[in-house]
Amino acid sequence: MAIQGVMDTLKNTNLQEIGVSFSLADLLRDLKVEDDKVYIKLFSPSEKYHDYLKEKAETVLKSIGAKAVQVEFTSEPPKKQQPPQPPPQQNPFESRRRIPKVKKVIAVASGKGGVGKSTVAVNITAALKRKGYNVGYLDADMYGPSGPTMLGAKDKQVTATPDNKLIPPESHGIKIMSIGLLLPSEDTPVIWRGPVLFKALSQFLFDINWGEELDFLIIDLPPGTGDIQITLGQTAEIDGAVIVTTPQDVALIDVKKGIQMFNEVQIPVLGIVENMSYFVCPDSEKKYEIFGKSKTEDIAKQYNTQLLGKVPIEPKVAEFGDLGIPIVLAKEDSESAKAFMEIADEIIKKLSEQ
Ligand SMILES: Nc1ncnc2c1ncn2[C@@H]1O[C@H](COP(=O)(O)OP(=O)(O)OP(=O)(O)O)[C@@H](O)[C@H]1O
Ligand SMILES: [Mg+2]
Repeated sequence: MAIQGVMDTLKNTNLQEIGVSFSLADLLRDLKVEDDKVYIKLFSPSEKYHDYLKEKAETVLKSIGAKAVQVEFTSEPPKKQQPPQPPPQQNPFESRRRIPKVKKVIAVASGKGGVGKSTVAVNITAALKRKGYNVGYLDADMYGPSGPTMLGAKDKQVTATPDNKLIPPESHGIKIMSIGLLLPSEDTPVIWRGPVLFKALSQFLFDINWGEELDFLIIDLPPGTGDIQITLGQTAEIDGAVIVTTPQDVALIDVKKGIQMFNEVQIPVLGIVENMSYFVCPDSEKKYEIFGKSKTEDIAKQYNTQLLGKVPIEPKVAEFGDLGIPIVLAKEDSESAKAFMEIADEIIKKLSEQ
């Protein structure tokens, strides 16, 4: 006899005669079929129905060819069926920690070097400061730290708390930390190897005493999609990444890599800043797209993100950068300062939507 046939028969045998709405199969706790012998165990807490159920089972099973039918009863309540539990997820990011005393952490990144990432990071920080927020700037470019120069903090001193937390100095009201502030001279090449680099980065993320809680911490990343970016993504909770590019195709290829990397490390991409977007001729006020027509907006759409803003090339951006005063603070009415202020608004908006 086929077990399926037995099951079907039990399912089709209703028990309306004793006033219940279920079938014999609903009472089934065990079933064995051997040739034409059938053994079943039924759940029935009350002996009152045993005879009825036994007879019913024998009748229906014999009608489909069973020669011997053995019926037993159990009064044990059915074991609650546990819904299948998914296997525990191995999440490489679950050990991520929040950076202490910081409300929102924003990483500024670029796939390609020299596109103005530090300029953008410093000016976004300054823009948020101008908007009245308490802000910090963390230069995570361990190889080419330019934050101290751009924020006019080169000669400022880092101190430490008794429990060895670093206390960042302040410039233009912005708290700043950079490896550049800890090295004896500006020209010292930083030759870090894996473990030392990670130790230093981890200290930068978690062992800095930012003082009064920061509204925003801006992290200036080194260019590319290397170890520092991945380590950051795996160890710290970052609220969003801003990707900086210039309009050329070569830079945009790296934007895609950058977005993919942040997706992999599960950091939301807030959007793209296009730097050195155009040049406004000071004499004619005519706009020139020096690097050709921008495709940044298309790329942003393609990757489900947005263009946060375009910053023009302005010689003053570089000049004031070298002087240690972000353009946003040095020349509030410049095109680029205005662009940075709007970008800061967009960032705040994107973060509040999360
Ligand atoms: N919008 C701009 N107008 C004029 N000069 C700019 C602009 N943006 C950046 N620069 C200048 O371009 C140079 C490179 O910028 P920056 O150092 O910010 O780039 P970066 O992407 O951080 O570089 P790196 O990859 O080395 O970290 C600097 O001299 C900076 O002053
Ligand atoms: Mg830089």
